[in-house]
Amino acid sequence: MAVRAAVAGASGYAGGEVLRLLLAHPEVEIGTLTGNSNAGQRLGALQPHLLPLADRVLAETTPEALAGHDVVFLALPHGQSAAVAERLGPDVLVVDMGADFRLKDPADWERFYGSPHAGTWPYGLPELPGARAALEGSKRIAVPGCYPTAVSLALYPAYAAQIAEPEAVIVAASGTSGAGKAPKAHLLGSEVMGSMSPYGVGGGHRHTPEMIQNLGAVAGERVAVSFTPTLAPMPRGILATCSAKAAAGVTAESVRAAYQKAYADEPFVHLLPEGQWPATASVHGSNAVQVQVAYDEAVGRIIAISAIDNLTKGTAGGAVQSMNIALGLDESTGLTTIGVAP
Ligand SMILES: NC(=O)c1ccc[n+]([C@@H]2O[C@H](COP(=O)([O-])OP(=O)(O)OC[C@H]3O[C@@H](n4cnc5c(N)ncnc54)[C@H](OP(=O)(O)O)[C@@H]3O)[C@@H](O)[C@H]2O)c1
Repeated sequence: MAVRAAVAGASGYAGGEVLRLLLAHPEVEIGTLTGNSNAGQRLGALQPHLLPLADRVLAETTPEALAGHDVVFLALPHGQSAAVAERLGPDVLVVDMGADFRLKDPADWERFYGSPHAGTWPYGLPELPGARAALEGSKRIAVPGCYPTAVSLALYPAYAAQIAEPEAVIVAASGTSGAGKAPKAHLLGSEVMGSMSPYGVGGGHRHTPEMIQNLGAVAGERVAVSFTPTLAPMPRGILATCSAKAAAGVTAESVRAAYQKAYADEPFVHLLPEGQWPATASVHGSNAVQVQVAYDEAVGRIIAISAIDNLTKGTAGGAVQSMNIALGLDESTGLTTIGVAP
Protein backbone atom coordinates (compact mmCIF):
# COMPACT_ATOMS: atom_id res chain seq x y z
CA MET A 1 0.00 0.00 0.00
CA ALA A 2 1.32 3.44 -0.92
CA VAL A 3 2.65 5.77 1.75
CA ARG A 4 0.40 8.86 1.79
CA ALA A 5 2.42 12.06 2.23
CA ALA A 6 1.29 15.65 2.83
CA VAL A 7 3.51 18.70 2.35
CA ALA A 8 3.05 21.87 4.39
CA GLY A 9 4.76 24.88 2.81
CA ALA A 10 4.24 23.51 -0.72
CA SER A 11 4.52 27.01 -2.21
CA GLY A 12 8.11 27.48 -0.95
CA TYR A 13 11.46 26.28 -2.27
CA ALA A 14 11.95 23.41 0.18
CA GLY A 15 8.32 22.28 -0.20
CA GLY A 16 8.60 22.42 -3.99
CA GLU A 17 11.78 20.36 -3.94
CA VAL A 18 10.33 17.67 -1.69
CA LEU A 19 7.36 17.44 -4.06
CA ARG A 20 9.71 17.09 -7.05
CA LEU A 21 11.39 14.14 -5.31
CA LEU A 22 8.16 12.56 -4.05
CA LEU A 23 6.72 12.60 -7.59
CA ALA A 24 9.55 10.20 -8.54
CA HIS A 25 9.21 8.06 -5.39
CA PRO A 26 7.65 4.68 -6.24
CA GLU A 27 6.17 4.09 -2.76
CA VAL A 28 4.60 7.52 -2.15
CA GLU A 29 1.22 8.97 -3.04
CA ILE A 30 1.00 12.75 -2.65
CA GLY A 31 -1.91 13.94 -0.52
CA THR A 32 -2.71 17.39 0.87
CA LEU A 33 -0.57 20.39 -0.04
CA THR A 34 -0.73 23.53 2.07
CA GLY A 35 0.47 27.15 1.91
CA ASN A 36 0.14 30.31 3.93
CA SER A 37 -0.35 33.53 1.91
CA ASN A 38 -0.82 31.36 -1.19
CA ALA A 39 -3.57 29.13 0.25
CA GLY A 40 -6.35 28.82 -2.33
CA GLN A 41 -3.89 29.11 -5.27
CA ARG A 42 -3.24 26.38 -7.86
CA LEU A 43 0.19 24.81 -7.40
CA GLY A 44 0.75 25.19 -11.14
CA ALA A 45 0.79 28.97 -10.72
CA LEU A 46 3.48 28.76 -8.02
CA GLN A 47 5.63 25.75 -8.94
CA PRO A 48 5.16 25.44 -12.72
CA HIS A 49 7.91 22.77 -12.95
CA LEU A 50 5.71 20.32 -10.98
CA LEU A 51 3.39 19.61 -13.92
CA PRO A 52 1.66 16.48 -12.55
CA LEU A 53 0.46 18.54 -9.56
CA ALA A 54 -0.46 21.70 -11.50
CA ASP A 55 -4.18 21.52 -10.73
CA ARG A 56 -3.81 20.87 -7.01
CA VAL A 57 -5.12 23.76 -4.87
CA LEU A 58 -3.23 24.69 -1.69
CA ALA A 59 -5.11 24.35 1.59
CA GLU A 60 -4.46 26.47 4.70
CA THR A 61 -1.70 25.02 6.90
CA THR A 62 -3.78 23.52 9.75
CA PRO A 63 -3.49 20.21 11.64
CA GLU A 64 -6.95 19.33 10.28
CA ALA A 65 -5.85 19.72 6.64
CA LEU A 66 -2.71 17.67 7.30
CA ALA A 67 -4.49 14.85 9.21
CA GLY A 68 -5.03 11.40 7.69
CA HIS A 69 -1.56 10.93 6.14
CA ASP A 70 1.25 8.48 6.94
CA VAL A 71 3.94 11.15 6.54
CA VAL A 72 3.77 14.94 6.86
CA PHE A 73 6.65 17.10 5.60
CA LEU A 74 6.84 20.52 7.26
CA ALA A 75 8.66 23.01 5.01
CA LEU A 76 7.77 26.07 7.10
CA PRO A 77 9.71 29.02 8.53
CA HIS A 78 11.37 28.14 11.84
CA GLY A 79 9.11 28.47 14.86
CA GLN A 80 6.00 27.24 13.00
CA SER A 81 6.48 23.46 13.19
CA ALA A 82 5.89 22.56 16.85
CA ALA A 83 2.28 23.75 17.04
CA VAL A 84 1.36 21.75 13.93
CA ALA A 85 3.41 18.64 14.84
CA GLU A 86 1.95 18.24 18.32
CA ARG A 87 -1.55 18.00 16.87
CA LEU A 88 -0.71 15.38 14.22
CA GLY A 89 -0.56 12.49 16.68
CA PRO A 90 2.26 10.09 17.60
CA ASP A 91 1.60 7.58 14.78
CA VAL A 92 2.21 10.02 11.94
CA LEU A 93 5.79 10.36 10.69
CA VAL A 94 6.53 14.09 10.88
CA VAL A 95 9.58 15.27 8.93
CA ASP A 96 10.52 18.83 9.88
CA MET A 97 12.68 20.62 7.35
CA GLY A 98 12.88 23.71 9.55
CA ALA A 99 15.32 24.28 12.41
CA ASP A 100 12.96 23.78 15.36
CA PHE A 101 14.01 20.29 16.52
CA ARG A 102 17.65 20.10 15.42
CA LEU A 103 19.49 21.48 18.45
CA LYS A 104 19.94 19.53 21.69
CA ASP A 105 20.87 22.42 23.96
CA PRO A 106 17.93 24.77 24.70
CA ALA A 107 20.43 27.56 25.48
CA ASP A 108 21.85 27.33 21.94
CA TRP A 109 18.34 27.54 20.50
CA GLU A 110 17.36 30.53 22.62
CA ARG A 111 20.60 32.38 21.85
CA PHE A 112 20.35 31.98 18.07
CA TYR A 113 16.56 31.95 17.55
CA GLY A 114 15.33 34.03 20.49
CA SER A 115 12.31 31.88 21.40
CA PRO A 116 11.62 28.91 23.72
CA HIS A 117 13.13 25.58 22.57
CA ALA A 118 10.53 23.17 21.14
CA GLY A 119 12.54 19.96 21.70
CA THR A 120 14.98 17.63 19.94
CA TRP A 121 14.12 14.96 17.36
CA PRO A 122 16.24 12.23 15.72
CA TYR A 123 18.59 13.99 13.31
CA GLY A 124 18.24 13.32 9.60
CA LEU A 125 21.87 13.10 8.51
CA PRO A 126 22.14 9.30 8.15
CA GLU A 127 25.87 9.37 7.35
CA LEU A 128 26.80 10.54 10.87
CA PRO A 129 27.76 7.77 13.34
CA GLY A 130 24.66 6.31 15.04
CA ALA A 131 22.21 8.40 13.01
CA ARG A 132 20.68 5.54 11.02
CA ALA A 133 19.89 3.56 14.17
CA ALA A 134 18.12 6.60 15.66
CA LEU A 135 16.06 7.12 12.49
CA GLU A 136 14.87 3.52 12.08
CA GLY A 137 11.21 3.34 13.07
CA SER A 138 11.21 6.94 14.30
CA LYS A 139 8.01 9.00 13.97
CA ARG A 140 9.82 12.33 14.17
CA ILE A 141 12.76 13.57 12.07
CA ALA A 142 14.65 16.87 12.27
CA VAL A 143 16.17 17.45 8.84
CA PRO A 144 19.55 19.21 9.12
CA GLY A 145 20.28 22.70 7.87
CA CYS A 146 21.88 22.96 4.43
CA TYR A 147 25.24 24.37 5.59
CA PRO A 148 25.55 21.88 8.49
CA THR A 149 24.93 19.04 6.01
CA ALA A 150 27.77 20.21 3.74
CA VAL A 151 30.15 21.02 6.60
CA SER A 152 29.47 17.92 8.73
CA LEU A 153 30.03 15.61 5.76
CA ALA A 154 33.26 17.44 4.85
CA LEU A 155 34.74 17.29 8.34
CA TYR A 156 33.26 14.41 10.33
CA PRO A 157 35.68 11.76 8.96
CA ALA A 158 38.62 13.77 10.30
CA TYR A 159 37.09 13.87 13.80
CA ALA A 160 35.98 10.22 13.68
CA ALA A 161 39.57 9.22 12.90
CA GLN A 162 40.92 11.65 15.53
CA ILE A 163 43.30 13.27 13.07
CA ALA A 164 42.07 16.87 13.58
CA GLU A 165 42.33 19.32 16.47
CA PRO A 166 38.99 20.57 17.86
CA GLU A 167 38.86 23.87 15.97
CA ALA A 168 37.60 24.33 12.42
CA VAL A 169 37.51 27.29 10.06
CA ILE A 170 34.81 27.17 7.40
CA VAL A 171 33.96 29.44 4.51
CA ALA A 172 31.00 28.31 2.43
CA ALA A 173 29.26 29.72 -0.62
CA SER A 174 25.53 29.20 -1.10
CA GLY A 175 23.14 29.80 -3.96
CA THR A 176 20.30 32.22 -3.35
CA SER A 177 17.53 29.60 -2.97
CA GLY A 178 19.03 28.91 0.48
CA ALA A 179 17.30 32.09 1.66
CA GLY A 180 13.81 30.98 0.59
CA LYS A 181 11.35 32.34 -1.95
CA ALA A 182 9.96 35.34 -0.06
CA PRO A 183 11.11 38.58 -1.79
CA LYS A 184 14.09 40.34 -0.17
CA ALA A 185 15.93 43.35 -1.62
CA HIS A 186 19.43 41.90 -1.15
CA LEU A 187 18.39 38.84 -3.17
CA LEU A 188 17.22 40.80 -6.22
CA GLY A 189 18.91 39.72 -9.44
CA SER A 190 20.55 43.16 -9.74
CA GLU A 191 22.14 42.76 -6.32
CA VAL A 192 23.31 39.17 -6.69
CA MET A 193 24.25 38.73 -10.34
CA GLY A 194 27.97 39.07 -10.95
CA SER A 195 28.78 39.56 -7.27
CA MET A 196 29.68 37.53 -4.18
CA SER A 197 29.29 38.79 -0.62
CA PRO A 198 29.63 37.49 2.94
CA TYR A 199 26.93 37.62 5.61
CA GLY A 200 26.54 36.47 9.23
CA VAL A 201 30.27 37.12 9.75
CA GLY A 202 31.75 36.73 13.23
CA GLY A 203 29.84 33.70 14.50
CA GLY A 204 26.34 35.04 13.97
CA HIS A 205 24.92 32.49 11.53
CA ARG A 206 22.22 30.26 13.02
CA HIS A 207 23.73 27.11 11.57
CA THR A 208 26.92 27.48 13.65
CA PRO A 209 25.65 25.71 16.81
CA GLU A 210 24.36 22.82 14.66
CA MET A 211 27.85 22.33 13.19
CA ILE A 212 29.41 22.48 16.66
CA GLN A 213 26.85 19.91 17.88
CA ASN A 214 27.54 17.48 15.02
CA LEU A 215 31.31 17.70 14.99
CA GLY A 216 31.53 17.66 18.80
CA ALA A 217 29.44 14.49 19.00
CA VAL A 218 31.87 12.74 16.64
CA ALA A 219 35.03 14.18 18.24
CA GLY A 220 33.91 13.42 21.79
CA GLU A 221 34.80 16.99 22.82
CA ARG A 222 33.67 20.51 21.95
CA VAL A 223 34.82 21.61 18.50
CA ALA A 224 35.19 25.39 18.11
CA VAL A 225 33.81 26.49 14.74
CA SER A 226 34.46 29.73 12.87
CA PHE A 227 31.85 29.84 10.10
CA THR A 228 31.60 32.48 7.36
CA PRO A 229 28.82 32.04 4.78
CA THR A 230 28.85 33.83 1.46
CA LEU A 231 26.14 34.38 -1.12
CA ALA A 232 26.99 33.23 -4.65
CA PRO A 233 25.27 34.30 -7.88
CA MET A 234 23.60 30.95 -8.58
CA PRO A 235 20.14 29.59 -7.68
CA ARG A 236 21.28 26.32 -6.06
CA GLY A 237 24.35 24.75 -4.52
CA ILE A 238 26.74 24.96 -1.57
CA LEU A 239 30.51 24.71 -1.75
CA ALA A 240 31.96 24.38 1.76
CA THR A 241 35.71 24.88 2.26
CA CYS A 242 36.63 23.60 5.70
CA SER A 243 39.97 23.40 7.44
CA ALA A 244 41.19 22.08 10.77
CA LYS A 245 44.63 21.86 12.34
CA ALA A 246 45.98 18.34 11.92
CA ALA A 247 46.83 16.25 14.98
CA ALA A 248 50.45 15.27 15.58
CA GLY A 249 51.79 12.60 13.25
CA VAL A 250 49.20 13.11 10.51
CA THR A 251 50.30 12.50 6.92
CA ALA A 252 48.62 12.97 3.55
CA GLU A 253 48.15 9.20 3.43
CA SER A 254 46.48 8.96 6.87
CA VAL A 255 44.11 11.82 5.95
CA ARG A 256 43.04 10.13 2.72
CA ALA A 257 42.67 6.76 4.46
CA ALA A 258 40.30 8.30 7.05
CA TYR A 259 38.03 9.66 4.33
CA GLN A 260 38.15 6.47 2.27
CA LYS A 261 37.08 4.49 5.33
CA ALA A 262 34.22 6.86 6.16
CA TYR A 263 32.72 6.92 2.68
CA ALA A 264 33.54 3.51 1.16
CA ASP A 265 29.95 2.24 1.51
CA GLU A 266 27.90 5.45 1.44
CA PRO A 267 25.32 5.60 -1.36
CA PHE A 268 25.32 9.39 -1.67
CA VAL A 269 28.68 10.69 -0.45
CA HIS A 270 31.52 10.34 -2.92
CA LEU A 271 35.17 10.92 -2.10
CA LEU A 272 36.52 12.10 -5.44
CA PRO A 273 39.69 10.66 -6.97
CA GLU A 274 42.81 12.52 -5.90
CA GLY A 275 43.27 15.76 -7.80
CA GLN A 276 39.57 16.19 -8.65
CA TRP A 277 37.68 18.88 -6.75
CA PRO A 278 33.97 19.18 -5.85
CA ALA A 279 31.78 21.46 -7.95
CA THR A 280 28.21 22.52 -7.27
CA ALA A 281 27.25 21.99 -10.93
CA SER A 282 28.00 18.28 -10.60
CA VAL A 283 25.38 17.75 -7.88
CA HIS A 284 22.67 20.06 -9.24
CA GLY A 285 19.28 18.41 -8.57
CA SER A 286 20.87 15.25 -7.15
CA ASN A 287 21.18 13.86 -3.65
CA ALA A 288 24.91 13.29 -4.15
CA VAL A 289 27.63 14.89 -2.07
CA GLN A 290 31.09 15.36 -3.53
CA VAL A 291 33.97 15.46 -1.05
CA GLN A 292 37.70 15.99 -1.50
CA VAL A 293 40.40 16.33 1.11
CA ALA A 294 44.03 17.45 1.16
CA TYR A 295 46.75 17.80 3.77
CA ASP A 296 48.51 21.16 3.61
CA GLU A 297 51.80 20.14 5.16
CA ALA A 298 53.26 23.66 5.17
CA VAL A 299 50.66 24.84 7.68
CA GLY A 300 49.73 21.47 9.23
CA ARG A 301 46.06 21.75 8.28
CA ILE A 302 43.52 19.36 6.78
CA ILE A 303 41.48 21.01 4.02
CA ALA A 304 38.16 19.30 3.26
CA ILE A 305 35.78 20.55 0.60
CA SER A 306 32.24 19.41 -0.10
CA ALA A 307 29.61 20.30 -2.70
CA ILE A 308 25.87 19.68 -2.30
CA ASP A 309 22.65 20.95 -3.79
CA ASN A 310 21.18 22.90 -0.85
CA LEU A 311 17.63 22.04 -1.85
CA THR A 312 18.27 18.33 -2.51
CA LYS A 313 20.77 16.70 -0.10
CA GLY A 314 20.71 19.98 1.86
CA THR A 315 17.01 19.66 2.67
CA ALA A 316 14.43 17.72 0.61
CA GLY A 317 16.72 14.86 -0.44
CA GLY A 318 17.97 14.46 3.12
CA ALA A 319 14.34 14.48 4.24
CA VAL A 320 13.31 11.72 1.80
CA GLN A 321 16.45 9.66 2.57
CA SER A 322 15.64 9.86 6.29
CA MET A 323 11.95 9.09 5.67
CA ASN A 324 13.00 5.96 3.76
CA ILE A 325 15.06 4.78 6.74
CA ALA A 326 12.28 5.56 9.22
CA LEU A 327 9.77 3.58 7.13
CA GLY A 328 12.11 0.62 6.58
CA LEU A 329 12.43 1.28 2.82
CA ASP A 330 15.69 1.10 0.92
CA GLU A 331 17.48 4.34 1.82
CA SER A 332 17.98 5.36 -1.81
CA THR A 333 14.38 4.89 -2.97
CA GLY A 334 13.24 7.78 -5.15
CA LEU A 335 16.62 9.54 -4.96
CA THR A 336 19.27 9.98 -7.61
CA THR A 337 23.00 10.66 -7.62
CA ILE A 338 22.76 11.88 -11.19
CA GLY A 339 23.14 15.64 -11.56
CA VAL A 340 22.14 18.06 -14.32
CA ALA A 341 25.06 19.49 -16.28
CA PRO A 342 26.26 21.79 -17.68
N1 LIG B 1 15.88 26.85 1.02
C1 LIG B 1 16.78 25.99 1.47
O1 LIG B 1 17.81 25.72 0.80
C2 LIG B 1 16.56 25.28 2.77
C3 LIG B 1 17.51 24.32 3.15
C4 LIG B 1 17.35 23.66 4.37
C5 LIG B 1 16.28 23.97 5.17
N2 LIG B 1 15.38 24.92 4.79
C6 LIG B 1 14.27 25.21 5.69
O2 LIG B 1 13.04 24.87 5.09
C7 LIG B 1 12.02 25.75 5.59
C8 LIG B 1 11.33 26.40 4.39
O3 LIG B 1 12.31 27.16 3.69
P1 LIG B 1 12.11 27.67 2.20
O4 LIG B 1 13.45 28.01 1.71
O5 LIG B 1 11.25 26.73 1.45
O6 LIG B 1 11.29 29.02 2.46
P2 LIG B 1 10.20 29.72 1.50
O7 LIG B 1 10.56 29.47 0.08
O8 LIG B 1 10.11 31.13 1.97
O9 LIG B 1 8.83 28.96 1.83
C9 LIG B 1 8.22 29.09 3.07
C10 LIG B 1 6.91 28.31 3.07
O10 LIG B 1 6.29 28.44 4.35
C11 LIG B 1 5.01 29.06 4.19
N3 LIG B 1 4.81 29.98 5.32
C12 LIG B 1 5.32 31.23 5.47
N4 LIG B 1 4.94 31.76 6.64
C13 LIG B 1 4.15 30.83 7.25
C14 LIG B 1 3.45 30.79 8.47
N5 LIG B 1 3.47 31.82 9.33
N6 LIG B 1 2.74 29.67 8.76
C15 LIG B 1 2.71 28.61 7.90
N7 LIG B 1 3.35 28.62 6.72
C16 LIG B 1 4.08 29.70 6.40
C17 LIG B 1 5.05 29.76 2.86
O11 LIG B 1 3.71 29.85 2.38
P3 LIG B 1 3.23 31.01 1.35
O12 LIG B 1 4.28 31.09 0.27
O13 LIG B 1 1.93 30.43 0.84
O14 LIG B 1 3.08 32.23 2.13
C18 LIG B 1 5.91 28.81 2.04
O15 LIG B 1 5.16 27.71 1.57
C19 LIG B 1 12.72 26.79 6.48
O16 LIG B 1 12.58 26.42 7.83
C20 LIG B 1 14.15 26.70 6.02
O17 LIG B 1 15.08 27.07 7.02
C21 LIG B 1 15.49 25.57 3.59
